[in-house]
Parts: sequence; C-alpha cells; structure tokens
Amino acid sequence: MYYSDDIVEEVRMKNDIVDVISGYVKLQKKGSSYFGLCPFHNEKSPSFSVSRQKQMYYCFGCGAGGNVFTFVMEYENYSFVEALKFLADRAGVELPEAEYSKEEKERRDLKQILLDMNKLAAKYYYAQLISENGKAAHEYLTKRGLDEGTIRQFGLGYSNKYSNDLYQYLKIKGYNDEQILKAGLINADEKHGAYDKFWNRVMFPIMDTNNRVIGFGGRVMGDAKPKYLNSPETMIFDKSRNLYGLHRARTSRKSYFLICEGYMDVISMHQAGFTNAVATLGTALTAGHASLIKRYVNEVYLTYDSDEAGTKAALRAVPILKEAGISAKVIRMEPYKDPDEFIKNLGAEAFEERIAKARNGFMFGLEMLERDYDMQSPEGKTAFFREAAKRLGEFEEEIERNNYIEAVAKTYRIGYEELKKLVQRTAVQSGLASMAVRPKAITGKPKEKEDGYKKSQKVLLTWMLEGQNIFAQIKRYITPEDFSTELYKKVAALLYEQYQQGEVNPAKIMNQFTDEEEHREVASLFHTRLKEIKTKEEQEKALKETLLRVKSHSIEKSAQELEPTDLAGLQKLMNAKRELLSLKTLHISID
Ligand code: CTP
Ligand code: MN
Repeated sequence: MYYSDDIVEEVRMKNDIVDVISGYVKLQKKGSSYFGLCPFHNEKSPSFSVSRQKQMYYCFGCGAGGNVFTFVMEYENYSFVEALKFLADRAGVELPEAEYSKEEKERRDLKQILLDMNKLAAKYYYAQLISENGKAAHEYLTKRGLDEGTIRQFGLGYSNKYSNDLYQYLKIKGYNDEQILKAGLINADEKHGAYDKFWNRVMFPIMDTNNRVIGFGGRVMGDAKPKYLNSPETMIFDKSRNLYGLHRARTSRKSYFLICEGYMDVISMHQAGFTNAVATLGTALTAGHASLIKRYVNEVYLTYDSDEAGTKAALRAVPILKEAGISAKVIRMEPYKDPDEFIKNLGAEAFEERIAKARNGFMFGLEMLERDYDMQSPEGKTAFFREAAKRLGEFEEEIERNNYIEAVAKTYRIGYEELKKLVQRTAVQSGLASMAVRPKAITGKPKEKEDGYKKSQKVLLTWMLEGQNIFAQIKRYITPEDFSTELYKKVAALLYEQYQQGEVNPAKIMNQFTDEEEHREVASLFHTRLKEIKTKEEQEKALKETLLRVKSHSIEKSAQELEPTDLAGLQKLMNAKRELLSLKTLHISID
C-alpha cells in the first residue's frame, strides 16, 4: 500500500460515484438507484446500475461492478494508483509523496526504468521506420497492406542494420549495461560483448492493458530464420499474462474476442474493423491467458491458421478456455492460410460471414476426429461413436451433457436415446462411477475439492456483505480465521472491523485492495448473484448449507494441523465441533 488508508478514503468520499459515472454514462434515476447503458458491454436496454447510497455500481448484464476506483480503472485502463491520482485531481485532493520501503522502492524503480526504456526503444524504432534508414521496412509493411494509421496505432518500427544501434542509443540516454540487459533489449557474451537483440527487423511493440510497452516481437523482412524473435521474459514481460492487441481489444465493446495466432493477423483484423482481435505472444494458449480473457468476455472465436498446427492448437485451446468458463467457437480460414491472408483476399464482409458460421468448439473437435476413422465402414463408424461418447461423458453437468448428446445425435443422424446409453456405458467402462450417482464432492479430485471450498467461502462472504441482518445472525459462528483463502480472510476481517465500529461500508473495504487482480476479485464478491435460487426458503437453506460447509472445512483443517500435545487447542476444537452440531438446527432468516 503506497498511500495511507485515510487519504484513499478521502479521495473516494470526495468523488461521488453517481457524479463520476455521469461523466461517462447517461444515468437515469429509478427508485433508489440510477440506471444507464453499460459501458463495458454492448446493450440496448439499460442494465447498468449505480447506487449513491452504497457508492457502488453493478451491471446486471455483464456482471461488471465495484466502487468508484474500480470504475475508473476499468474505463480508463488505469492501475489502482493511476485511478487514485485521477480522482484526487478531480476532487482537488493533494496526494502526499508516496512512501515506500527501501526494497519496494528499488523494485519499483527498476520496474519503472525497464518500462521507460522499452517505451524509449519503441519510439526509437518508430523513428527509424519513418526515416531514410527504415525505407525498406516501411515498404515491406505497406506491401503487406498496412496503412499509416495502423502503423502508428500499433507503434510498429524498424531496428537498424547495425548490431549495436539501440544499445548505443540507450547508453547515451544514460542506461547502464545491467539495466539494458534486464530489459531484454540486448544480449551479451564474452566473445561479442553487448549487442542488440533485434537488428534489421520490423518491430512489433507489445503493450500491456495499461498501454505500456513491455516487450517486442521482431520479424525478418525476407525468408531468413528465425522468422520472429521475441523479447525474453523480464520483470515487466510475462508472456502468459499478456495478449497482443489486448490493450485495444478490451475497449472494443464486443461481447467476444477473436483469438488468432500472429501479430500480423491481429493488426490486419484491427485495420479491417475487427478491433476485438488478440493473439498469444508466440506461445500456446494457457490457463493464465484464459483467466485474463475471462475478465473481459465469456466467449471467444478461435481464428487459428488452417494448417495442421493451427488446427491442433485450436483443439487444445478449447478445453483450457472451457475450464475458465469461456465458450469457444472455431472459425476456419480455408482456403487461406490465416486471417491476415483471408482478409486481404476476401475482405471484412466475408470474414463476418465466417464469424456467423463459426462452429462450436466441441463439434469442431468431433469433425476433426472423424478424419481418424473410416466413416464408411461399420467398424470405423462404431469406433468413432465410442470415442465421441467418451468425450460426451466428460461434461459434468447433466443438462449440458444432454444438450450435446442431442446435437451430436442430430448431426450424425443416430438416435438420441441410443447415444445417451452409449455415453453412460462408456462412462462406466472407463472407470468412472455411473454418472447418475456421482456426487462431485466425494469423487472430485483434491484440487476440485479445494476450489469447491473456495467457492463456498466466496458465497458465504457475499451473503455476509449483503445485509446487516444476515451478518448479525451468523457472526458468532464464523470468524475471519474460518476463511482459508487469504484474500477472503482479509475481506472478512475488514468486515468484522466495520461492524464492530458500527459502520458497514463495502465501497471502503474495496479501497484496501490496490492490486488489480485482487481488486477485481473483491469487487466480484459484492455482486455475485445469490438470488438465482427462487424461493426465500430455498435461499435460507442454501445459505445455511454454505455456512456449515465453510465451518466444517475450517474445523477439519485445524484438526489436521493440530499438534497431539496441544491440549488447549484440542479443547477448542471440541467446542467448535459441538457448536457445529448446534448450527445444524439453526434457522437463518434472510429478510
Ligand atoms: N512466432 C514466433 N517465432 C517464430 C515464428 C512465429 O514467436 N519463429 C510467433 C509470432 O508471435 C507469430 C506467431 O507465432 O506472430 C504466428 O506465426 P506465423 O503464423 O508463422 O507468422 P504470422 O503471424 O502469420 O506472420 P507473417 O504473416 O508475417 O508470416
Ligand atoms: Mn501470416
């Protein structure tokens, strides 16, 4: 935390959320809240609500929500500190000089140095590109169909022919060898000393979501190898947590992203108006990318190359995305190699058509599977259906599974019931217990179990944040220590503190979380929908079950950690267990 709690709270209080958001969104008062069109997703009727009383906002359509800092962070692509500065300025609050510990300062300073240097390098490469030196490179880009506006928007550049061009420039600008090395802009060895990582290449600066240059990709202008060189991972460049083009795609206001393989694909697509295109940075898509994507959209279209490698990459990406809760569709580029070539030859309209015709990721997987079987012979076809049934059995949710069974039955013209039976039989044979009687908590893998507890803790915390009445009823049974997830423990502790002081203020709790990822997760605590369960009785029952789950998990955990000689601890544990029993008969009212 770089600024004191008091100053952060002062800035928050002096920026009324309705006033601030009104500067961006047209709001109308309805009852005790204000409504408008959500700026974070496309919609025609207003589901974006702002509460003056709670000083929080929430979109019923896309789930975006938080306090005034969250809004500015999301809308302006700011970090927490940037949002703080912006709002302090708006309200005329003077921020004191930030205080850092020595280590913090050194780390921050180095990080800032690397960011400054990368920015400087990007400017330098751009200047080269538009100078006489960069003529051939500029021609290369123009020949590939990029216009001046696009070149500027993506900050493309050229690294000069000499192997120490940038190195010399950065030295003149006052950076030392160690710093330049840490920025990933040079290589150094005993034989050659320090020399530029990139030379005689077209340069693609890679930006993070805050529009800061964090690394580069560089392409040769001919057929030499390697075709691309990329910055190594550095303190500021983590390939698994960034996507090329995301800084622009995130504000495209589309409900899905187009994911492609290459830098040139992203640029071509943006130029053609598909500003929601992103690409991984020369690596396969990972779970890290998926959770990054999930912050912005719930749906993606994979537009990978049409070759074997691209197809395989798409097939591998589908389950990774699904795991993160993102549904994936696959767009084929045939007869062209990739989106860049496709758009160049057939144009944006034809690409729109392909988007409309995109295939569901699972069904696409089956189509690709077909190629491994002789679908003309009965044996081949049977073997294909067995494999398809096995894959269908992997859908844990019954409704979803049945929907897919139905789709497959229809596509491949076989009976729904027959296929369903085959799916069940295959599941039994492949060692899974019969799906009908498969309670998740018992057969689940340890990680799933942990995730389940985490989810319960999250839901319980959301209930506790909902209303004073609920909190009052359950506070004696649960303490912050019962939350094994550190982040939730911290939120719970703050909540207890506020209750004790008689002032419950969710927007203030959010101030404490300045790391962007944490800030978002805490924001989501305040607007996870609890009311999806219909009746009041059912809601009360669900709440109680959640409470019991969290409490017994906590007891179980402390039992495991208990030293056999710790008599006082043992006594405490027994009390807790007794309490748990009495909890079972507790009635919680959510009125
Ligand atoms: N890539 C890489 N290193 C290589 C080749 C590729 O890092 N030697 C990464 C780059 O991020 C590249 C992506 O993989 O953008 C896709 O590669 P490819 O399809 O070969 O290149 P394109 O993006 O299509 O580039 P171009 O159109 O310029 O050939
Ligand atoms: Mn290409």
